[in-house]
Amino acid sequence: MENYVLTDKFYSKDMDDFSEDPFCNPEQPTTITFEDITSAAYKIRTGINQTQCIKSHLSELTGMDIYLKKDFLQNTGSFKERGARYALLMLSKEKQQKGVIAASLGNHAQAMCYHGLLLKIPVTVVMPLIAPIMKIQKCRELKANVIIEGKDMAEARKVAIRIAQEKGLTYINGYDHPHIIAGQGTIALEILEQVEDIDAIVVPTGGGGLLAGVIVAVKALNPNIKIIGVESERCASFSKALECGEPTQTIIEGTLADGLAVPKVGYNAWATSRDSVDKMVVVQEEWIAVAILRLVELEKCIVEGAGACGLAAILAGQLDEFKGKRIVLILSGGNIDTTILGRCLERGLAADGRLVKFKATVSDRPGGISELCKLIGSIGVSIKDVIHERAWVTSDVFSVEVKVVCETRDFSHSLELRELMFANYKRVKFENLRSIKSSKPDITSTINNM
Ligand SMILES: Cc1ncc(COP(=O)(O)O)c(C=O)c1O
Repeated sequence: MENYVLTDKFYSKDMDDFSEDPFCNPEQPTTITFEDITSAAYKIRTGINQTQCIKSHLSELTGMDIYLKKDFLQNTGSFKERGARYALLMLSKEKQQKGVIAASLGNHAQAMCYHGLLLKIPVTVVMPLIAPIMKIQKCRELKANVIIEGKDMAEARKVAIRIAQEKGLTYINGYDHPHIIAGQGTIALEILEQVEDIDAIVVPTGGGGLLAGVIVAVKALNPNIKIIGVESERCASFSKALECGEPTQTIIEGTLADGLAVPKVGYNAWATSRDSVDKMVVVQEEWIAVAILRLVELEKCIVEGAGACGLAAILAGQLDEFKGKRIVLILSGGNIDTTILGRCLERGLAADGRLVKFKATVSDRPGGISELCKLIGSIGVSIKDVIHERAWVTSDVFSVEVKVVCETRDFSHSLELRELMFANYKRVKFENLRSIKSSKPDITSTINNM
């Protein structure tokens, strides 16, 4: 999908300029209070779904008592509706009539468009060119004024602020506006009502609004609960802020967790949360793909990369201190393009050692390839793809090189396949056969007895 450039780097020089947003002043940041969150909870109670927070089938697999807060089940597929609705409700009548504007990669935009439509407040969203197509499409369906401009969030934001000034619209930052942070905190009030004796809550972190809201709510009610922020290795702006002692421009690379791709955390979010975060975890992209796969297979949940980061951290062994403890994962969003979901599942299967690729040189006489296929089928492995190569093969002219992609039950099934191939063919090469679970290094296994 052209909107995700998995290897490109983009660095936003001007994201620093918060000065034109009256609600986000780096010199005098606003900190959010517990009362702000309870007031938000009261105001939005009729317009937001109270989503389930239930025990997960993943508990056995991980050795933790895992609960999943399924906020991807909000109408527009993310928790962002909480802050968006509250921010819209808190506007004066006059400002509501004039309308609002936001810059967003998608979830905040969708949330604003949806609640703007319900509350009859005109909404304009500026989405950068890298925003996922599905999210852009949804905003259009919600009858908002959708502007696609800017190569990244920094540029989209500049455009939005300029239009706000020209047209007298209220600009609402998706992670740093105080009402947005207060609205996001309402998710924590729900979690504490739904689950008893929680040891930790894991919060996917982008600009820091959700983390800040959750921290304020939880630490006021039960300071013993640990709050853990999680971000992708490709957009670790909160970790960078902790390292530097202040919000700091961070290099962002294309990530499966596109919702978290914010180059600099918000000043209000930072001021509210910096002293109370118990731990920040940075996860690898590969684990995010595996987490998406596990959520589909074991929980029947379609969760986007950002929302799957908490599980990724657990699967990667980065939260092992919570083994035997009760931990809540916020599944914050489910808006993932179908094509990206397909790719994530394939990457997850490959990382699991369940999608394997190998080359074998087999006889080119009639029946040579069919014999190979029969052999593979004899142990219950299914073939996804076979390509055969005659022209560039260096062995005798009666041989053909076959590239095969197979699906297996698990890593040990893949190892069984490898043994079978080695036992029956002289030239076999498996590529990247490994299981991320055992954190084994790549085993590129070759046998060449010729
Ligand atoms: C699905 C999802 N999870 C988590 C986040 C992080 O929220 P915040 O930017 O408030 O840190 C976002 C932000 O857009 C998101 O879309």
